[in-house]
Amino acid sequence: MEQASYSFIYESTQDIIYPIYEDKDICPKVVETLGYDINLIVDKKLNQITTIYTLGQYPFDKIIFIGLGKSIEMTTAKMRDAFITVSQQIKQPASFDAKRATTDMIDIHKVTQLFVESYIYASYKEHVIGHDTKEIIEVNVIAQENVQADIEIGEAYGNGINYERTLADTPANLMTPKDIVKAAIQLAKEYNLELTILDNQKLQEMGAGGILAVNQGSDLPAYMLALKYNHGSNQPYKAVVGKGITFDSGGYNIKGNSFGMKYDMCGAASVLGIIKILADIKANVNVYGIIATTENLINGSAYKPQDVIITLSKKTVEIFSTDAEGRIILCDALTYAQQLGAHQIIDLATLTGACEVALADVYTGVFSNNDEYFHKFNQVLKDSDEKGWRLPLDNAYLDKIKSNSADFKNSIGRVGGASIAASFLQQFIEEDTKWIHLDIAGTADHGGKGATGVMIRSVVNMLKD
Ligand code: BES
Ligand code: MN
Ligand code: ZN
Repeated sequence: MEQASYSFIYESTQDIIYPIYEDKDICPKVVETLGYDINLIVDKKLNQITTIYTLGQYPFDKIIFIGLGKSIEMTTAKMRDAFITVSQQIKQPASFDAKRATTDMIDIHKVTQLFVESYIYASYKEHVIGHDTKEIIEVNVIAQENVQADIEIGEAYGNGINYERTLADTPANLMTPKDIVKAAIQLAKEYNLELTILDNQKLQEMGAGGILAVNQGSDLPAYMLALKYNHGSNQPYKAVVGKGITFDSGGYNIKGNSFGMKYDMCGAASVLGIIKILADIKANVNVYGIIATTENLINGSAYKPQDVIITLSKKTVEIFSTDAEGRIILCDALTYAQQLGAHQIIDLATLTGACEVALADVYTGVFSNNDEYFHKFNQVLKDSDEKGWRLPLDNAYLDKIKSNSADFKNSIGRVGGASIAASFLQQFIEEDTKWIHLDIAGTADHGGKGATGVMIRSVVNMLKD
């Protein structure tokens, strides 16, 4: 997308996207040109679309109005919604008149970023396998100020989020652990990043018994990946860690219904999306993107209930349920991130059905071992227009997963599932590591149909400075 070479509607040859507040009049010149008072026709209430045909009065077909409601009530979250609504109406190249959406609080630069990101987000279509994806319809931004940099920021976020959605929506037979590795290699090439690929042999040598245990039931190899984004000179490295179960059958504790379990790699896909955005916006930080990826399937070698495994941290875990596999691969990934020197870690995982039961597809479950770090993230969530809610970590949850044969069990069942899973993970976080765990089980996809790219924006904004 680009900034239009002109600054006024009448110079456009493309349809106009015209945001309009209830308390504002439509540009008198436009009214005059059209020859009748369209203020009486256009619905200026929030999220309402009115299409006015120009009938030869302009060299373009139509003006698509998007109502924004009262300007003093406008927020960036509402603006995103409205921009997504109008984006769905765009069927041919158009020009977006950015200044009409500005308020005392939201300037033209922010409006441009929000529009471009929303437009790209709304243009995403789940890929029909075997068919080419449609090109995105070109939209320009009209502004008197220079907004080219803002367009690029909006594009970086929109494209990074859609990249995650593309990976996540790809069915599990075509998005195997090896395909995740291929995606990471591609990304590393494109942005000139260092990539470490640990295969089964390497994982064995280092003693990553968690991910290897889950991988036993799969005929495909497992991988641990570390993408290194370094644009922060000698700053310490932070890490973003993702669960990459490309399909979760539950293992021997087989799921009754595994619909949607191709999305169990959304954490891993998010890590790739996050690194892509950081690289696109050239954030001045050092970040490792860590991914643990395998299938959770069943064959004659699959891990079983009551198996005891030795994780990378040397802590031992008794398998209570083979379906609580996410924490088993993640604990190794978290240990690995700390071995690489990260003392600020954010993980994303479709970890527990319990989190979805608690918060539905509305809020992401947020856990942290550090109040200050949490408060910072909570502010970032608000600034990023994403919803997360803090849930507790507590040693009392650990009492419940005491084991006779190991340091702890990997679960006890459904009760308190989100907090138990998170408290389990905390056992693999060192005292001086600031850590946020995002349980995206409920929010990463629309009930098994369509990835959302949730939390990518917030994590980027948290990491970027
Ligand atoms: N991947 C699932 C969690 C999940 C459930 C994600 C629903 C998205 C939608 C995870 O591996 C899992 O199976 N968790 C179990 C844990 C239980 C066995 C303690 C769960 O939540 O039921
Ligand atoms: Mn599972
Ligand atoms: Zn899972």
